[in-house]
Amino acid sequence: MLRIEQLTKTFGRNTAVDRATIEVDRPIMLGIIGRSGAGKSTLLRMLNRLTPQSSGQVYFEDREITALKGAEMRAWQADCAMIFQQFNLVPRMDVVSNVLHGTLNRRSVLATMFNLFPQSDIHRAIDILERLGIAEHAPKRAEALSGGQQQRVAIARALMQDPRIILADEPIASLDPMNAQVVMDTLRRIHEEDGRMVIANLHTLDTARRYCDRVVGMRDGRIVFDGTPQQLTTGVARDIYGADAGFSEAATSTAIETLDATQRAEIDAARVTV
Ligand SMILES: Nc1ncnc2c1ncn2[C@@H]1O[C@H](COP(=O)(O)OP(=O)(O)OP(=O)(O)O)[C@@H](O)[C@H]1O
Ligand SMILES: [Mg+2]
Repeated sequence: MLRIEQLTKTFGRNTAVDRATIEVDRPIMLGIIGRSGAGKSTLLRMLNRLTPQSSGQVYFEDREITALKGAEMRAWQADCAMIFQQFNLVPRMDVVSNVLHGTLNRRSVLATMFNLFPQSDIHRAIDILERLGIAEHAPKRAEALSGGQQQRVAIARALMQDPRIILADEPIASLDPMNAQVVMDTLRRIHEEDGRMVIANLHTLDTARRYCDRVVGMRDGRIVFDGTPQQLTTGVARDIYGADAGFSEAATSTAIETLDATQRAEIDAARVTV
């Protein structure tokens, strides 16, 4: 389904991603972990062609993505929606309009200038917000929402594109453990119920283990681990993060696992009904 072959990115003399090879045969939820600077974001950005590769190829269903140009490349970028650590919403704009911006790539310049959205798109945006449990916030400015709610708006905007893949670059790195769990649950449900592939860069081991079907570990641009969460032992993790004295599981934990029973119950109560 997705084949990444010897994908490489160099910045001057620095090799950010070094001959990364990953093959995925069905739409799984894939986690990418590694310390800061390991090359996770660069790898993700090459997948949706935000960053041009230095060498290597990406294939999706046997089509070479790395060779696409112009309109075909933009169509691919719509097929793989990206969400970011900082949500990248327009803060002063209302939630629905933010979500509707997920359709910009297929709208005319004129319609965009005048903020003219087809009624059907508006309905779909509200349906998606409902699905993610945030429809009540639809008329509010994005900046009035909590981080977890804003990230769900960003996911809703991504879903407007009806993407095949959702690329998430540290989607929970700015969130507290409770919101982190709600956002990861949301991504997992979208994956399971829509059959969309999710590829998420994650700072933390526990999240990768808990939510992903498969985890890739990067170190200094290279893939040093590719396996199941069960295979991701503490020893392997030490190898990915570097065996310096500072390594500890706790240091790479979002503490989702450390929530107490009351907090978990609160999350369950607020749980999105996707
Ligand atoms: N635009 C750029 N110009 C020059 N060097 C870059 C650029 N983008 C990334 N790099 C370098 O490439 C390497 C990989 O960076 P990247 O952002 O992919 O790492 P990361 O694993 O996402 O880190 P983090 O966890 O901090 O987000 C780093 O050494 C970084 O400094
Ligand atoms: Mg990064």
